[in-house]
Order: sequence, then structure tokens, then C-alpha cells
Amino acid sequence: MSEKQEKLDELKKQCLSCEKCGLCRGRHNVVFGVGSANADVMFIGEGPGEQEDIKGEPFVGKAGILLDKMLTAIDLNRNENIYIANIVKCRPPQNRDPLPEEQELCLPWLRQQFAIIRPKVIVCLGRIAAAKIIKPDIRITREHGTIFRKGNVIMIPVLHPAALLRNPKDKPAAFQDFLNLQELLDTL
Ligand code: URA
Repeated sequence: MSEKQEKLDELKKQCLSCEKCGLCRGRHNVVFGVGSANADVMFIGEGPGEQEDIKGEPFVGKAGILLDKMLTAIDLNRNENIYIANIVKCRPPQNRDPLPEEQELCLPWLRQQFAIIRPKVIVCLGRIAAAKIIKPDIRITREHGTIFRKGNVIMIPVLHPAALLRNPKDKPAAFQDFLNLQELLDTL
């Protein structure tokens, strides 16, 4: 096992018993993250939904199936070459947006995941993740696909797959962002 994977496993062990915010009271599982510890690219969502809470894995519901299809189309997959996590690791009740204080209290886990994996590219799935990680006033409908750089890390906001299920007309634009990401990854 790689050193990064060992560190990630140790971090996960600690995270599974986290009680820093009230979301711990309603959870069935902590959804720590999934994928390769050696990934060059990390995908960040907002928080687990019902299926994710049941299975303990991010993006396994309908939105996750769409995400996996888009990833497969650009030769990425969660078992091999990417890592997927969320801003908050426990499901907010009724799938409401995670509160600012819940995001803030959970963020140290994600920061430690970044510090271990050290991805070259971070893709933020949807407004909540992009606002927390890229800039608070992000306009996701206007700015999706834009490349932001922070230090040596490239950050890209994209439309959330759940939003694409609600608004299928946005799928071509969202898919173009994924094709551009594939091209970018080929240059790294
Ligand atoms: N939506 C998210 O933002 N994250 C998940 O893990 C599932 C759905």
C-alpha cells in the first residue's frame, strides 16, 4: 500500500468518529471519500444525499450515475485515477444545503485530504463546493468551465450533475467542460 493511501486510511479512521457538528446525529454513515490516493484530479461535491448516507460512498445515487457516465467518457473513473469527496461528510437533513458553520467545521477533513493527495486539479461540482473552495461569489451558471489557479493547483467549477438531471438542456455545455478537462489533463 502506498504511503499516501496509508495516511488517507488513518485520516478516514479519525473522520468516521467525528462529532464536530450536529449532522453526526442524523447520519447512518460518514461519507469520507473514494478513489485513488495518487489521483491528479479531485472532484468535490457539496454533501451526501440519501443513497450516499446509506452506502457510505459519495455520488452513488442518480446524480452519481450521471457523473460516472461523464467521467467514463473522458477516461476517468473513481476506482483508478480520480478521488471524489464532499464539502461535508454527513448528510444534511432533507438534503438541505449544508449550513456555513457545518461547512466550516467539516472543512479541515477535506483540507487534510488535499494535503495527502496533493491533486493538480480540483473540480468543484456545483455552486456550494465552488463557493467554498474557489470564491464565495461564484456564479456557477456563468463561470462553469472557467480555469482558476491557486498556487500550483488548477480549480474548475462545473455544473452539479443533480442540476443537469433537473435541467437536461445544460448537459451539452457541462459535457464540454469535461472534454476541456480531459484536454487539460493530457497536458499535465
Ligand atoms: N451530491 C453531492 O454533492 N454529493 C454527493 O455525494 C451526492 C450528491
